[in-house]
Amino acid sequence: MCGVVAVVGKQNATQLVIEGLRKLEYRGYDSAGIASMSNGTLRTIKSEGKLYKLIDKSNEISNDKLHFDNSIAIGHTRWATHGNISVENAHPLTSENKIAVVHNGIIENYEILKNELISEGYDFISQTDTEILPHLFMKYIKLGNDFLEAGRLVLKDIRGAFAFVAMSLDFPNQLFASRNSSPLAIGLGEKSNFIGSDAHSIDHLTQRIIYLEDGDHALIKSDELEIFTKDKVKVNRKVINIKAELGLITKGGYKHFMEKEIFEQPSVIPQTTSTLIKNNSEITIDIDRLGFENKNTLLISAAGTSYYAGMVGKYWIEQIADLPVIVDLASEYRYRKPSVFGQSSMLVISQSGESLDTLMALRHGKELGLITNAIVNVEGSTIDREVDNSLYTKVGAEIGVASTKSFTSQLVILFLIAVALGKKFNNVKPRKIKEICSYINKLPSAIAQMLRIEDEIKLIAQNIKNAKSIIFLGRGLLYPLALEGALKLKEISYIHAEGFAAGEMKHGPIALIEDNVPVVMFLISDGNEDKSISNLQEAHSRGAKIILIADKKCIEKATFAHLKIEIPFFETDFKSLLSPFLMAIPAQLLAYHVANERGTDVDQPRNLAKSVTVE
Ligand code: G6P
Repeated sequence: MCGVVAVVGKQNATQLVIEGLRKLEYRGYDSAGIASMSNGTLRTIKSEGKLYKLIDKSNEISNDKLHFDNSIAIGHTRWATHGNISVENAHPLTSENKIAVVHNGIIENYEILKNELISEGYDFISQTDTEILPHLFMKYIKLGNDFLEAGRLVLKDIRGAFAFVAMSLDFPNQLFASRNSSPLAIGLGEKSNFIGSDAHSIDHLTQRIIYLEDGDHALIKSDELEIFTKDKVKVNRKVINIKAELGLITKGGYKHFMEKEIFEQPSVIPQTTSTLIKNNSEITIDIDRLGFENKNTLLISAAGTSYYAGMVGKYWIEQIADLPVIVDLASEYRYRKPSVFGQSSMLVISQSGESLDTLMALRHGKELGLITNAIVNVEGSTIDREVDNSLYTKVGAEIGVASTKSFTSQLVILFLIAVALGKKFNNVKPRKIKEICSYINKLPSAIAQMLRIEDEIKLIAQNIKNAKSIIFLGRGLLYPLALEGALKLKEISYIHAEGFAAGEMKHGPIALIEDNVPVVMFLISDGNEDKSISNLQEAHSRGAKIILIADKKCIEKATFAHLKIEIPFFETDFKSLLSPFLMAIPAQLLAYHVANERGTDVDQPRNLAKSVTVE
C-alpha cells in the first residue's frame, strides 16, 4: 500500500510534500519519510509511527541547521509489507546517499535481485523489497546510463504491482516515476510538476492532473514532462481538471472522524440518492446499460465492508427482482477460473476505488467478457476510471479506517438497483416503486432516530469492553450485518469477534460458547424472528451473555436476554425490508464505543489502512 508524493520545481518542496502526505495517511501510517536535494546534498528524514512524528523531527532538524533550501523532494507514508515497522525500513530508501526512492506496492522478485546486488557489493540496511530500487538505479547510472535509461533498465528487472518515484544527485532536476497496477497521478504546475498516489494529495499544488496508465514510465522535470509506454513509445495522456477539495477535512467537534462519519449518515444519504431518484418516485439507474437487457445472473465482487454490503445486495436483488446473484470476495475471484455461465454483468463495490484486490477482480471480469459496473465513492479513482459504468455514493471523504457512511450509502445504491431490476423484469409493480422510493426518502430520518440509542449502546460497550471474544448472530438480511458488526468491532477494538448465520451456530460455532461470552443479535420482527430467538436461546442455555438489539415485538419474546435495547418504532414493511440500514447504526456505534472505552486509535487502528493497494 503506502502513499507517495513528489515535487519538482517549487521552493520549499519538503513542506509541500509533507502537505501531500497529510492527505495520504489513509494509505498507511506505520512510518513516514522525506528526501530532498540541494547543492549536491541529499537529505533524508525518516520516522517510525504516524506522520506527526516526522513533522516534529523535520521541524527540529530545520531549527537546528541552516535552512535547507530545496526545490525537489519526495515523501512516503508506509503500510509495512516487507520488513517490520522501523526507521530503517521507512522510505525513502537510498543508495550511497545519492539516490532516493519511494515506493508503493510489492516487488515480487526482490530476493533474487537483492542477492545479485549483494554479490556485486551493494549494502542493504533494510528488510524491504524497495531497497533494491535505489541500488539498481545506482548500478545502471554507474554503467553510464542517463536517468531515463537507468529507470528503464530497472523496470526491465522488476516484477510485481508497484508505483515508485526516484531521484538522483547526478540528475538534480529530474524525477523518474513508473506504475504497474498501483495508482500514480502527475500534477502539472507553472515551471513545476508534482506526483502523488492520488490526485487529492497534490490538489493544493495544482488541479491539472494526468493519470499514468499501467506500465507507463515518466521523466519529470520542473519544465518538462515526458511519458512513455512500457514499449518506450512517447505518449500524451489526457489532462483532467479536478476540483480541489476544501483543504483538510476536520472532525467538526467530534472526538474521532469515525464518530463524525457515523453521525453524518442522515445528511449524506440524500447526496447518494440525489442523482438516482427523480421526482421522488422514479429510479434513474439505466439497467440495460449495466448489462441487463436480459435476465441474467449478477456477479458482485468486493472486499471488507464493501463485500458485506454486496451480500446484503444479493439478498435484496434475489428477493425484490428474482434475479440470481453471486457474491465473490475480490481476493478469491481474481485467482480462480470462474465460470461466467449465465452472467452478463459484474458489479464491484469499493469506497476508495483503489483496493487492489477489487481492481484485479474487475479486470478479471472484463477479460471474461462481463460488462463492468462499480459502486464507488472516490470519483476519478482507478476503479472509477477503468469500469464501464460508475454509480457514485457521493458521501464525501471518509477518513476513519472503519467504513461507516460508505457502507450505508453502498446499501442505498444496491437497494435501488434491486428495485430497478425488479421493475425491468416485472417483479415490482409501479405502485410499489413509488412506495419504495418513499421508504428511501424516509431513511435519513429513520437513521437519525436509530442514532438516538447511542447512550444505551454506550452502556453495553462498558459491559463488554473486557470480553476476550464476542459473537454476532443474524439471519437473512441481518446475517451480513452480523458479519459487518464483527468486522467493525475487531478492526477498531482489537477484540476477537466473529459473525455467524444464526442457523449455523449449532453446526460448530456453538462450541465457542462458555460462561459470559457476549452474543450480540440484531433482530427485527420480519416473520423469521422466532427461529432466530431459538438460536439465541441455545446460546443462552450454554451460559452466553445475550445482548439483543431489536424491535418491541422481539424484545417481548426474548425475555431471557441479559441486555436489551429496543429500537424506535417503524412500520412493518419498512423495517423488515430496510433492516440492514437500521441495524448498521448499532453495529457501528457498538464497535466505536467499545474501542473508545478501550482507548484504541479509533481512526487509525493498528496494522490497517483505509485503502489497501497490495494483494
Ligand atoms: C480495507 C479497509 C476496510 C475496507 C476494505 C475495502 O481493508 O480496512 O475497512 O472495507 O479495505 O475497501 P474499499 O475502499 O474497496 O471499499
